[in-house]
Amino acid sequence: MDRFHISGPTPLIGRVCASGAKNAALPALAASLLTDEPLTLCRVPRVRDLRTMRRLLDYLGVGSEERQAPGSEAPRAVRETALVLQRARPSSSTDAPYELVKTMRASVLVLGPLLARYGSARVSLPGGCAIGVRPIDQHLKGLAALGADVRLAGGYVEARASRLAGAHFRFDLPTVTGTENLLLAASLARGTTVLENCAREPEVADLARLLNVMGARISGAGGDTILVDGVDGLGGAAHRVIPDRIEGGTYLIGAAITGGDVLLEQASAADLAPLLDKLAEVGVEIEVSPAGIRARTGGGLRARDVATAPHPGFPTDLQAQYMALMTRAEGTSTIRETIFENRFQHAPELARMGARIHVDGGSARVDGPTELTGAAVMATDLRASACLVLAGVAAAGTTVVDRIYHLDRGYEGMELKLQGLGAHVARVAESQAI
Ligand code: EPZ
Repeated sequence: MDRFHISGPTPLIGRVCASGAKNAALPALAASLLTDEPLTLCRVPRVRDLRTMRRLLDYLGVGSEERQAPGSEAPRAVRETALVLQRARPSSSTDAPYELVKTMRASVLVLGPLLARYGSARVSLPGGCAIGVRPIDQHLKGLAALGADVRLAGGYVEARASRLAGAHFRFDLPTVTGTENLLLAASLARGTTVLENCAREPEVADLARLLNVMGARISGAGGDTILVDGVDGLGGAAHRVIPDRIEGGTYLIGAAITGGDVLLEQASAADLAPLLDKLAEVGVEIEVSPAGIRARTGGGLRARDVATAPHPGFPTDLQAQYMALMTRAEGTSTIRETIFENRFQHAPELARMGARIHVDGGSARVDGPTELTGAAVMATDLRASACLVLAGVAAAGTTVVDRIYHLDRGYEGMELKLQGLGAHVARVAESQAI
């Protein structure tokens, strides 16, 4: 149970390099179940969720080995990794046990490829999540539309199909991993699949790019209608995972909340457009150049409302970090969370630092500006922890962020990156805690 000890306030100044996207790497790793040939994935972030996915794949017979990607001269914290995945033994099991799945919901991404490749899959239901109920009904409905016999028994999804068949399926709502699961499954189905009302997140398009290099025939990914012409088999591939727009966006918000000046390298301005537009509205100077995306604040910050939405709307995974920013802005802002029903748990923790936030159901009203002061706070989920760390760097005094294991799920070397930007952040193991 590591903690972060942060002393502030410190303006974040300098360059930071975006890591690979956790939410693109996870489905990319699951794609390894679709072939016996080696899959080489570059820029896979070294975060806990990827280690969990590797353990699950190992359990399912796919081994993985980390190799240093040629030419990655960056400091140790963000040195690029090439992960080589290959089936190590004939498929012995198509079971994804609760013990492995319960620690990471994205484990459900093995369901589609197992079913498509081996005709059966038994995958534990993910169980509860801090930010919302998060059902997987759309995943199951989609696979049933492709002809699978899908049942729930004993906390598991049991799915069978001699061979999936192409079909027309419309999601009731855009779901990121739901769309990814169907892409993985439909790639090996007989015939053509038309998916409508798909998630348009860049991570979905990145998965389609990888699958097409493996030999799939997917078109339209990144839009709300995707066509998949099923093929009989898929080969190996080499693929570089897209940069993490959520991690990158976190550092850009860090520049804004601390009155700093940060150049984010190796990030995609197109993928970050919803955030960059909002930051410009708030009064942050944004400069996009071949060197990267620069964020700095000249004058004060203006309070601006935001509502989260599926891409290309404002990402829910940056909502918490944005709330921290709004505590420093001039005026009142309303933040509406429309994706998850319980994603304001960072608000009472920010209030411990002096923030004035009123939560009412799916809306939070933030009154600013507030001079945040350091306090002991507790992380409740991945993005809430990033929010508290940014608030800690901006706050006067010492902030201790507890339960940092949430952060380690999705941020590669955060304390090293922040130290590189001048922050006074130390990771303290519980045993060393004062
Ligand atoms: C992905 O989760 C991301 N995770 C999440 O990031 C992200 O918050 C989310 O998309 C939204 O952008 C990964 O990619 C691994 P959804 P996912 O299915 O796919 C409802 C992070 O911090 N829904 O798009 O699970 C659902 O309850 C994480 O990195 C159904 O009702 O999200 C939610 O309200 C957190 N039935 C909405 O749709 C379904 O079958 C969108 O969820 C599926 C989803």
